[in-house]
Amino acid sequence: MFWVILSVTSVTLLYFYLTWNYNYWRNRGINGPKPRPLVGTFPKSAIYLRNFVYELDDIYKTFRGKCPFVGIYTYRQPELLILDPKLINEIFVGKFKHFENNYTNYNKENARLFMRNPFILRDQEWKDNRADISPAFTTLKTKQTYPVVDRMCKKLTKFIKSQIENGVPFTDTKEITAKFTADVICSVAYGLEANAIENNNSEFLRVAHKLFATSNWKLWFITFKSIFPYLFKYYEMPFLAADVEKYFLNLTDEAIRIRSQSVNKPDDYLHFLLKLKEKRNFQLNDVAAHSITFFLDAYETSSIILTHALYRLAKNENCQRKLRQEIAELNGDLSFDSLSNLSYLDQVFNETLRISTPGFTMSKVCTEKIDLLNHENRPVTIEKDTVIHIPIYSIHNDPEYFPEPTIFNPDRFKFADLKSLRDNGLFFPFGHGPRMCLGMRFSTLQIKAAIAEIVSNFHISVNARTKEPIIVKPKDFLYLAIGEVYLDYKVIEKENK
Ligand code: HEM
Repeated sequence: MFWVILSVTSVTLLYFYLTWNYNYWRNRGINGPKPRPLVGTFPKSAIYLRNFVYELDDIYKTFRGKCPFVGIYTYRQPELLILDPKLINEIFVGKFKHFENNYTNYNKENARLFMRNPFILRDQEWKDNRADISPAFTTLKTKQTYPVVDRMCKKLTKFIKSQIENGVPFTDTKEITAKFTADVICSVAYGLEANAIENNNSEFLRVAHKLFATSNWKLWFITFKSIFPYLFKYYEMPFLAADVEKYFLNLTDEAIRIRSQSVNKPDDYLHFLLKLKEKRNFQLNDVAAHSITFFLDAYETSSIILTHALYRLAKNENCQRKLRQEIAELNGDLSFDSLSNLSYLDQVFNETLRISTPGFTMSKVCTEKIDLLNHENRPVTIEKDTVIHIPIYSIHNDPEYFPEPTIFNPDRFKFADLKSLRDNGLFFPFGHGPRMCLGMRFSTLQIKAAIAEIVSNFHISVNARTKEPIIVKPKDFLYLAIGEVYLDYKVIEKENK
């Protein structure tokens, strides 16, 4: 009997613990979907059966046009989902001081090497670190990386041709694009050769895979921490395996040593960091943390967009032909400037960013409490520390803003004014406002260069082994397909180009 009473009491207490907060938004006059015990408003993604982006999109579709924002629950935690594009723009720009910080699961305690990444940092530390590295991302600095990008493009073509000649069946195109971005980044950020394109056993690539792997342990730790934050108040699970941290520290150390002995000192990111090191009296840890920012923010995002651009072009023969024609008109004069002036390539790039934005939601924290007007035009107070979500994926795929959103149609960007789209909260793959992506120019360059290189050298088509439609993995926070993206490559002979 005792055990029965104890069990019933425990279950009842747990139920109350899990649900007592579920009136939070209703009490404040904010609409939203009805939460369920434990899983909140995300019945499948809370237990990793479906990606968060799809459930967020369901909520978006239910409430868009009816409410400027809705209250949602991640497990027990009340959070806000913004639906109105005008409000999104205000959050990025006009009301920025109320939403200054990003919400992430990383911090200086659980990921020491991320300690200089502006994306993760908050308040003054964010300002200082962003100011420190911003000069490395100007148009001029980006232009200086073009020779490296171009060299890696040529390697990529050579690699694909050799695979074809040797009859090697093609692996996932995501693997090929990851090799390319790994080689570019290692060269630009560390001045070293990762040799990922030609070497399947590249150590740099192996560690990169490990760094981005989403382990079940980490996910369930985050889950339990969200449900029982008090139990984990004094414990932070390290997000970087000790060997990954050690690898990047050694890599930075080696890069500095080689650069100091070298006569040739290119004006690259490493050079920039070494000057910063002198100015700020940095230690090895600081330089390593700044270098890993480049790697962390550039590697997976760029490889995702490149993969999806190639996939979409492979599916859309007409677009591929049109792009190839535009590149052919340059008569082989592919330079930083000519690449930047290719208008159809730009349209293809933007349309890919629209459909397959790598980071499909942006999560911010309310840093200063603020009153927002609810669906009845009544001011409601959003408290400090409330997490808010900006549904990039849903806005980019909303038929009211982008008719027939699932169709890949680069022409929709033919006369588009990107600034005005951004200011209207309708197209913001790189974010907007004071926290806008620092690597936009660099990623645009390397992705466009690789697309142009591949399309002018190969005819690409989708292999039947590719599972369509492409669905995002349930456990990932980036646009990573569940299955492999198999494409077939056929060499285009020069005279037929
Ligand atoms: C296709 C590729 C990329 C996409 C779609 C992308 C997208 C984004 C987005 C959406 C943000 C958040 C912006 C905001 O909060 O308003 C961001 C921030 C950031 N990105 Fe990128 N990014 C890409 C590539 C890169 C590259 C190549 C680098 C560096 C080499 C980079 C460096 C950064 C940094 C440092 C931040 C943090 C800025 C801050 O919080 O002040 N990104 N990016």
